[in-house]
Amino acid sequence: MASVTLQNVTKIYRGRRGEEIPAVLGLSLEIPDKSFVVLLGPSGCGKTSTLRMVAGLESLTSGRILIGDTDVSGLPPGDRDVTMVFQNYSLYPHLTVAENLAFGLRVRRLGPADIARRVHEAAGILGIEDILPRMPRDLSGGQQQRVAVGRAIVRQPRVFLFDEPLSNLDAKMRAQLRAELIKLHQRLQTTIIYVTHDQAEAMTMGTSIAVLRDGTLQQSGRPLHLYNQPCNAFVAGFLGAPPMNFIRGTLQAREGARLAFRESGGGSLEIELPARTNLARLIETEVLLGLRPEHFQPLLPGETPNAATFPAHLDIVEPTGAESICYLQTGANTLICRSRHIIDTREAGHRMLFRADSAKLLLFDPATNLRID
Ligand SMILES: Nc1ncnc2c1ncn2[C@@H]1O[C@H](COP(=O)(O)OP(=O)(O)O)[C@@H](O)[C@H]1O
Ligand SMILES: [Mg+2]
Repeated sequence: MASVTLQNVTKIYRGRRGEEIPAVLGLSLEIPDKSFVVLLGPSGCGKTSTLRMVAGLESLTSGRILIGDTDVSGLPPGDRDVTMVFQNYSLYPHLTVAENLAFGLRVRRLGPADIARRVHEAAGILGIEDILPRMPRDLSGGQQQRVAVGRAIVRQPRVFLFDEPLSNLDAKMRAQLRAELIKLHQRLQTTIIYVTHDQAEAMTMGTSIAVLRDGTLQQSGRPLHLYNQPCNAFVAGFLGAPPMNFIRGTLQAREGARLAFRESGGGSLEIELPARTNLARLIETEVLLGLRPEHFQPLLPGETPNAATFPAHLDIVEPTGAESICYLQTGANTLICRSRHIIDTREAGHRMLFRADSAKLLLFDPATNLRID
């Protein structure tokens, strides 16, 4: 068990014509002992490169990586006591599950009794005892992935590295293995660095999330902190599905020192903001309003409009059973609303009133994308 510290880690690859390919730029991150930290970001943002540098499979261009108190930046992979589970895990096809689990331990010259004990322990943790004699070709995708995780567990490393381990599985298997990996972390009490581009995985699995974009760290922290207080529009838009609505508009002064947001481009969204003294400096300037789909709801019969109520044209309703996903038109923007109420699909085509939870609104600077606090 150990913490992992990235200090100003930079990775720049060299292309075939010698050109620089920046992958990770000045990444500093503290991964506490026993934590489950998710590196989240779109394809190409440097997640795999970061993991490979922690594993020792890739050299650093600059910066340092510490495991515990030891600078491992120059150590070969075998001396780091970390194991990595890849997206394209490959089991040895000619070996049984048990032999696949034992393989890495044989290479390290553990005794047969030790090997048998560790293999059965890992199989027990993963619930795969019954498939130990089978060959990989006779396993489902989910079982194969469990065996791949098992190969990492038997090595009892100080740090586990997972690179998108669930992305080749179907949705149901993904959800199941997600829950199993959370339990596994609780049980093993070990440090996990988990890479994914899937925000739902990150939100549900991580004790903390680090969001990367173009090789740079955007924000790190507890999942709900990032969800509720994203530092910029990129983090805000990357976390949450359906994603946050972004609406351009201006701040308007209202009587009694109150402020309202008015949508640009002739849109129908105009709502009063909760009193925030620091916003007065932004009157008449352009801002980006961030409104999550669950943070505004159709006004129900009997509910009275308030200062956060606005009209919109209901385009499409998608009932999911538990809720309704609505697409609305304000005249300038299409918004997605996640309604807790079941909305009749026959309502589509009509003008409706919606009420925002104005305490939850976020404002961003359209020039820098930074959240206005
Ligand atoms: N071995 C390599 N040689 C050259 N460029 C690479 C290599 N590996 C990754 N890259 C580039 O580095 C960037 C980050 O890649 P990667 O770390 O794989 O991102 P992610 O895992 O987030 O998709 C990308 O632009 C990718 O094309
Ligand atoms: Mg990758």
